[in-house]
Amino acid sequence: MNNQPTKVTLSFDNGNAPIELPVLAGTLGNSVIDIRSLGQHGIFTYDPGFMSTAACNSNITFIDGEKGLLFHRGYPIEQLAEHCDYLEVAYLLMHGDLPNAAEKQRFTKKITGSTMLHDQLNNIFRGYRRDAHPMAVMVGVVGSLSAFYFNNMEILDPRHREISAHRLLAKVPTIAAWSYKYISGQPFMYPQNHLSYAENFMYMMFATPCEEYVPNPILAKAFERILILHADHEQNASTSTVRLVGSSGANPFACISAGIASLWGPAHGGANEATLNMLEEIGDASRIGEFINRAKDKTDSFRLMGFGHRVYRNMDPRAAIMRKTCHEVLDALGLNNDPLFKLAMMLEKIALEDEYFVSRRLYPNVDFYSGIVMRAMGIPNTMFTAVFALARTAGWVAQWSEMHADPQSKIGRPRQLYTGSQAREFLPLDQR
Ligand code: SDX
Repeated sequence: MNNQPTKVTLSFDNGNAPIELPVLAGTLGNSVIDIRSLGQHGIFTYDPGFMSTAACNSNITFIDGEKGLLFHRGYPIEQLAEHCDYLEVAYLLMHGDLPNAAEKQRFTKKITGSTMLHDQLNNIFRGYRRDAHPMAVMVGVVGSLSAFYFNNMEILDPRHREISAHRLLAKVPTIAAWSYKYISGQPFMYPQNHLSYAENFMYMMFATPCEEYVPNPILAKAFERILILHADHEQNASTSTVRLVGSSGANPFACISAGIASLWGPAHGGANEATLNMLEEIGDASRIGEFINRAKDKTDSFRLMGFGHRVYRNMDPRAAIMRKTCHEVLDALGLNNDPLFKLAMMLEKIALEDEYFVSRRLYPNVDFYSGIVMRAMGIPNTMFTAVFALARTAGWVAQWSEMHADPQSKIGRPRQLYTGSQAREFLPLDQR
């Protein structure tokens, strides 16, 4: 955009002197008005939900909501999903470029060699009820890593940040898989270093000590793609949570635990589980209209899960890739008549032709199809967000590290519009 202004002037209707504010341009996308000096004039801006607020500058991910574009370090998600494995994308997010063969081998070996947990961590799982939600277990166990790994914690030291990032990338899948095993009452299966990242997770999830388990290569490739599609997504709620918690200097394990907690919400990463539950509740094409009407009814809190997005006003590019992956996995498994997939395709078609959704530019997002793929792979609904969390760990650690490398970064401390009581005198109990 070549005709961007370089400054804006705030003028006031009460005779106060106008204030000039610089406009900062990025490499791509919206410019921003730099309002940092406004506090000196006793003025705050007001933007609940940060609909129009850039909280930081970042080189990692770019989203164009109008055009439905998603780049990681400049590479379109479609190319990364087609040609990379997840650890290559994790390396890209963390280091700014794709690894060459030697870098890829070293990085993969480092992560693979760190997948085991400290053996005492096993006891922490046993403190949970067997019917706990896996995300509740993950929040707790990931947070407790700081009770076991407290060396190399100088977060302003890039090498220390890299060590923590490696530990998290390596151990979160083990914690996710063991959360499932614990709740299922099955024994933990230890990571196998000869397997790929996706194969290892599938092994730890589905293998038992009683028989040999060989991951299905088609499902492993589809799972790698699911991980890539969920790896990072600019300043979404959970990433902003990780940055805000990290801005106080909190240890990386506590930051990622907070990110997992934020992701769990049904408006965010919990939507994949909620979408599957919704499709199962709809059950049959004859009931689609009933649910579409509920989604449009302002007196009903129900929203069409897997639809809409704060940024995308077009198709979420990840949803299109996920739909294609759905076809591939269901074909490979001979499930192409899967009733839920057919129902999802019909629901998508009807919603995309409905004026309510069209006028509000509500399109399927990444969560609309991901649950169908994971369910076809045998992953239970309650584990969908845990998979999202293990995938997003790459983005969270990259964004957390970028924040600490930024000399401009400060502790996050937003202000407010106060609408409470005026100052008043205390009244003793017998006068109230
Ligand atoms: C993720 O931020 C990210 O990048 C997130 C994510 C990532 O990778 O990190 O992409 C992952 O979280 C994807 C989103 C998953 N969530 C869902 O699928 C849940 C269902 N979607 C909605 O809850 C909603 O669309 C949000 C939360 C995703 C976005 O909400 P916004 O931006 O706050 O939009 P809004 O609530 O202001 O909605 C605008 C209008 C409203 O109607 P009006 O007031 O104009 O009449 O659209 C309506 C909303 O009621 N609307 C929906 C709807 N989503 C928005 N109506 C029915 N069903 C929906 N799903």
